[in-house]
Amino acid sequence: MNASPPHIVDSGASYVSLPFYELPVRSVIADKLFNFATTTGEWKPYYNFHAVQVSFDLAFEDPVLYTLGMKHKLAVGIIRLDPYTTYDWHIDTRRGVAVNMLLNNAKSNCLFSVGETEATHGFVELKYRLGSYYLFNNQVPHMVINFSESRYMMSVEFEADKNELTFDQLMRGMK
Ligand SMILES: [Fe+2]
Repeated sequence: MNASPPHIVDSGASYVSLPFYELPVRSVIADKLFNFATTTGEWKPYYNFHAVQVSFDLAFEDPVLYTLGMKHKLAVGIIRLDPYTTYDWHIDTRRGVAVNMLLNNAKSNCLFSVGETEATHGFVELKYRLGSYYLFNNQVPHMVINFSESRYMMSVEFEADKNELTFDQLMRGMK
């Protein structure tokens, strides 16, 4: 039987919405961001990753990021996860929501837990499409496992923290 998750996840006792949402508009700067990521020497440690800031001149060439930037104080960065690295199950300490876009086809998985992260539990996968923006609920337990290539992810960091801007609030503002 095919057990691939539908758009609604049965968490046992109740139905919950998916903790991510693909925006219907594609990025026009994904290639530029990837070129920047693979040529810049400005990487800095960021939590357990490496990160580099993206200038607003570049980011705001894209109408999606420009529109977000008019509504919210934010920074745009690219996060690099090195080969054969995993980022274990966690909930972000500060961020309620992010907007993410995967920049290369590195073999990797991004999973959200369905329910508590006990020894065994269900999950749903965010299968990133290159060049698509995803609203990402950082307050649902999630993890990343990356295989043999560096993984480059653009991520919008809102100045508003989890108490000031939630996934649901940003979703409502985008529709
Ligand atoms: Fe996270």
